[in-house]
Amino acid sequence: MSEEVLTLRGVVKEFDGKTILDGIDLTIRQGEVAVIIGPSGCGKSTLLRCINALEPIREGEILLQGEPIRAGAKNLPSLRQKIGMVFQSYDLYPHMTVMENITLSPRKVQKRDRREVEREAAELLARVGLSDKAESYPRQLSGGQKQRVAIVRMLIMQPEILLFDEVTAALDPEMVREVLDVMLELAHQGRTMLIVTHEMAFAQAIAHRIIFMDDGRIVEEGTPGQFFTKPQTKRAQEFLDRFRFDT
Ligand SMILES: Nc1ncnc2c1ncn2[C@@H]1O[C@H](COP(=O)(O)OP(=O)(O)O)[C@@H](O)[C@H]1O
Ligand SMILES: [Mg+2]
Repeated sequence: MSEEVLTLRGVVKEFDGKTILDGIDLTIRQGEVAVIIGPSGCGKSTLLRCINALEPIREGEILLQGEPIRAGAKNLPSLRQKIGMVFQSYDLYPHMTVMENITLSPRKVQKRDRREVEREAAELLARVGLSDKAESYPRQLSGGQKQRVAIVRMLIMQPEILLFDEVTAALDPEMVREVLDVMLELAHQGRTMLIVTHEMAFAQAIAHRIIFMDDGRIVEEGTPGQFFTKPQTKRAQEFLDRFRFDT
């Protein structure tokens, strides 16, 4: 079996005395694409934020390639660079061009050579179909284009694992596809990915493993084939039924 990239053991998270993550055990291996699904408010975003140490945890441990991730720890900045994250909102700097937005962190944080970084940025922009947008400003882009820029901005940091939190949820329907296609391409390249999405057909297509969460716990895990055709728990069945009804 391939190397463990991310390991969570007994992770407990509370907000204001309320348990939000209730003992999460999870292992993601090199090259694996895992998709987390579950009802709104069940703790999916909180889980990703804890992995990135954007939120401290109360109990348990989170390891990246065997190294503990802890809010406030000395090695956190270097560990965080290995974790790429894209959110629902793309928060690009409005006063910077696409190229400047993408090259800022590799230059300032990783101290990489400007020309090398710009060359890599141009290559990545070409791969997501945005070669002609390098000198544009975010306001000149559609939502789908901005989200693709946000993905490039993450990739250029050369992360070991890619986290995606409902990256298409705020997009107009006609732009969802172009962003999902970029993610499918990354999966085909063998990237290690942990994805939160409500796009069930996409989840089925991209995932090696589906992780179903409810109420702060992992209730069920399985291959997409198992999960979508024969969910084991009543809660997963009910969740999927609701989706079939919605769409
Ligand atoms: N910063 C916060 N302070 C207090 N409660 C929070 C905070 N962030 C999230 N929560 C609560 O944690 C629960 C899980 O939220 P979240 O992780 O955003 O769920 P999901 O992403 O699955 O919709 C919700 O009940 C939410 O209200
Ligand atoms: Mg969320």
